Amino acid sequence: MTTSRRHYHITTFGCQMNKADSERMAGILEDMGFEWSEDPNQADVILYNTCTIRDNAEQKVYSYLGRQAKRKHEQPDLTLIVAGCVAQQEGETLLRRVPELDLVMGPQHANRLKDLLQQVFDGNQVVATEPIHIIEDITKPRRDSKVTAWVNVIYGCNERCTYCVVPNVRGVEQSRTPEAIRAEMEELGRQGYKEVTLLGQNIDAYGRDLPGVTPEGRHQHTLTDLLYYVHDVPGVERIRFATSHPRYFTERLIRACAELPKVCEHFHIPFQSGDNEVLKRMARGYTHEKYRRIINTIRKYVPDAAISADAIVGFPTETEEQFENTLKLVADIGFDQLNTAAYSPRPGTPAAVWENQLSEEVKSDRLQRLNHLVATIAAERSQRYMGRLEEVLVEDQNPKDKTQVMGRTRTNRLTFFTGDINELKGKLVKVRISEVRAFSLTGEPVEVREVVSV
Ligand code: SAH
Ligand code: SF4
Ligand code: F3S
Repeated sequence: MTTSRRHYHITTFGCQMNKADSERMAGILEDMGFEWSEDPNQADVILYNTCTIRDNAEQKVYSYLGRQAKRKHEQPDLTLIVAGCVAQQEGETLLRRVPELDLVMGPQHANRLKDLLQQVFDGNQVVATEPIHIIEDITKPRRDSKVTAWVNVIYGCNERCTYCVVPNVRGVEQSRTPEAIRAEMEELGRQGYKEVTLLGQNIDAYGRDLPGVTPEGRHQHTLTDLLYYVHDVPGVERIRFATSHPRYFTERLIRACAELPKVCEHFHIPFQSGDNEVLKRMARGYTHEKYRRIINTIRKYVPDAAISADAIVGFPTETEEQFENTLKLVADIGFDQLNTAAYSPRPGTPAAVWENQLSEEVKSDRLQRLNHLVATIAAERSQRYMGRLEEVLVEDQNPKDKTQVMGRTRTNRLTFFTGDINELKGKLVKVRISEVRAFSLTGEPVEVREVVSV
């Protein structure tokens, strides 16, 4: 064993929840005296925080793991950890497949990393996948950004969409208290963070599991109430939230977004399919008409709002005509961005064992056609920015052009402009847009806004 400090490396797959979990686990490791190593081959503790939403996401981790498992034969004190959703899904099976592993831990156990590692250092091989009440986050995350931050508001998901593994791997909904959320945001404000994204797989479910009802009989704590409660946190200039579910999305929430100046004009509301029969088989609990009504209401209150979503093509039994209903919805709504995916059967989900699975050819053909449409429409939507003055929060240097910095508009469009990152990082800059592309913009800086924190 060397006397120098021990190093850790984390590779993160999957969604923002996993990224947020990784930042908390990195915080725990640093607290334990470990130092970050960019190169996994220099690390003494390697943690893969995994995703199993589609088969290709899951397969990725096995190839990474194979390499490190080999290394462990030469360096037996190497500690190998699989965390996240594959860990939860596979549990002990993972140990049989990769016996070199020291620790397999589901997402609900992220905050327990220190205890679990202690057991490993005592000589045990540990599997932590039992459902638990997530302990309040007392850890200090090591956040990747100094400008934007994620704050979990609700863990888990109680929906049962027939294609989705998330409820199996993330467990039941557990909301954090408004006080804990506000306290975390206040700390972020003090540290100079300018933007916070509130996170939940189904963020509209926020508060349903917390005690308290209003005299009108609604839950006392809703996402809307939370936004009113946190919107004046000093220093935090922008608030975003994701992911919204059309089934529970309310007009009250839209009005709050219109009213509260820090809440950004961007809504991420996955629709998954534009066909009512498919939506029913997915058990999504809404029709495409309802989805269209939501978007109309958003545009009534917040006319310039950016709308993004997720969609799946090639769900079992989806006909050509049903797929065309998805294309039609995409064309009618005019999305600013759309995450698209070909349906992937997931173990333990109802749709995976249905007959009439579509061939890979049909799925990839539909995916391509949808992506083509999305790019065309996003390019059209980008046109509206031409010549406009947009507020950009500078996050980083443009990795492809060091003379430029990059950030996002309030509507979440990636924007580049000439400038020095050392001066501008974390600043809100008014930028005159001079070039538009489907998913990004370029402009000239006009004015740096001085933010006076109170
Ligand atoms: N909670 C969010 C999204 C969760 S997963 C929601 O309700 O919309 C992120 C995205 O992955 C989903 O929106 C869906 O488009 C996609 N996805 C989930 N399961 C999938 C599967 N089995 N095959 C393909 N895409 C899937
Ligand atoms: Fe999955 Fe549906 Fe829950 Fe989203 S709402 S995480 S798609 S089960
Ligand atoms: Fe993947 Fe788990 Fe997120 S399966 S998408 S990392 S909730």
